[in-house]
Amino acid sequence: MAWLALKLPADAAEAEAWSDALLEAGALSVSIEDRDAGTRAEEAQFGEPGVGAAGVGELHAWRHNWVEALLPGDTDVEALLARAARDSGLTLHAHHEIREVEEQDWVRLTQSQFEPIRISDRLWIVPSWHEPPDPRAVCIELDPGLAFGTGSHPTTRLCLRWLEANLRGGESVLDYGCGSGILAIAAAKLGAGRVVGVDVDPQAVAASADNARRNGVEAEFCLPDRLPDGPLPQAGEHPEGHEGAKAEPRAPHPTPLPQAGEGAIAEPRAPHPTPLPQAGEGAIAEPRAIYDILVANILTNPLKALMPLLAGRVRAGGRIALSGILEDQADEVLAIYGAAFDMRPWAVEEGWVCLAGVRR
Ligand SMILES: C[S@@+](CC[C@H](N)C(=O)[O-])C[C@H]1O[C@@H](n2cnc3c(N)ncnc32)[C@H](O)[C@@H]1O
Repeated sequence: MAWLALKLPADAAEAEAWSDALLEAGALSVSIEDRDAGTRAEEAQFGEPGVGAAGVGELHAWRHNWVEALLPGDTDVEALLARAARDSGLTLHAHHEIREVEEQDWVRLTQSQFEPIRISDRLWIVPSWHEPPDPRAVCIELDPGLAFGTGSHPTTRLCLRWLEANLRGGESVLDYGCGSGILAIAAAKLGAGRVVGVDVDPQAVAASADNARRNGVEAEFCLPDRLPDGPLPQAGEHPEGHEGAKAEPRAPHPTPLPQAGEGAIAEPRAPHPTPLPQAGEGAIAEPRAIYDILVANILTNPLKALMPLLAGRVRAGGRIALSGILEDQADEVLAIYGAAFDMRPWAVEEGWVCLAGVRR
C-alpha cells in the first residue's frame, strides 16, 4: 500500500487549524475542499481581495469543509489524529474516513483532468500536452497554474465568447483582473491591436506574461498602479495583420441579447436603484490611457467599487464586458455601471451573468 488518505469534516473556524495540525503531526500534504460542492449551497471562492477575511494568496475555508490529508501507508491514523487534536486543542469528531491510495502515474492523472475546452466553433483552450482538436480554430495554449483562468469556469467562457463576438480587429483592449492572461491572449489572437492586462496579484501578472509568450502574442501585463499611461495607437498604427485601423464603434447592442430559455435574465430595474459611488471615492477617474474595449471578470463587490476607475479607462463609444456576477447580483451592477455606460445583460451560463455596455 503506497499511501493513506484521511478525510474529516471541519467548519470554517477549524479547517485551517486542522490543516496545520495534520501537517505538524506527519501528513505529507493537506487540501481543503467545499463540503457543499455540487449542491445549491456551494460557495464560489476566488481569493479576491476584500472578500472574506483572507487576502490574495491566503487560504480560504468554506462554511463546511472537507480536510483531506495524505499520509504514509504505514501511519497509525487514529494515533496521528489524536496527536493532531491534542497538540492543536481541536476536538476530534467521530466521523472521519480513511482510504488507501494506490501508486499512480500522477502526471498522467493530472493531465487527464484537463482536456481541450471548446469555447465556440472558432475558439479552443488547449493544454500544452494536447494536439489542437481543430487546426483551423484559434487555439489558446494554456496549462493549469497558480493564476485563475483555464477556461473551465463559466465566467471566463462568457468573456471569451463576448470577445469573439465583439472584436473586429485592431482595437486596444484592457483585461482588468487578468489572472492567467486568458482573456488578453484571446483578444490578441482574435485580432486586437494593443493588449494590456492588469492584476493585483503579482503571480497572475507573471503567469500572464509567460502564457502570452508561450502563445506567441504581444501583450503587456502589470500591477494596477503600473498601468501604462502612454498614448494608445492611432488609426493605422496597428500591428501587421490588423489592417483597417481602429474600428468605429458599431451601433449600440449589435449582439443579440439572450432569448428567454437561452438564459435571459430580467431587464434592469429603473435606473440607479442603488446609491452610486459618492464624489471623491467614486468620481469617474480622469483617464490618461483609454481603451476601445475593457473586459473584467472579477466578482461583484470589486466590480462595484472599481466602476469609476474602469469607466475612466474606456473611450466614449468604447465597450465594456463584466463577468463574475451571479444572476441575482446583476441588477445592482447594471445600476452602478449605468451611470457611465448603456449596460445590458449579454448572456448567462450556469447562473453567472456577463453584462456588456457602451460608454456614453
Ligand atoms: C476570476 S479571476 C479572472 C481571471 C481571468 N481574467 C479569467 O477571466 O479567467 C479574477 C482576477 O482578478 C484579480 N483581481 C481582483 N480584484 C482586482 C482588482 N481590484 N484589481 C485588479 N485585479 C483584481 C484577481 O487577482 C484574479 O486574478
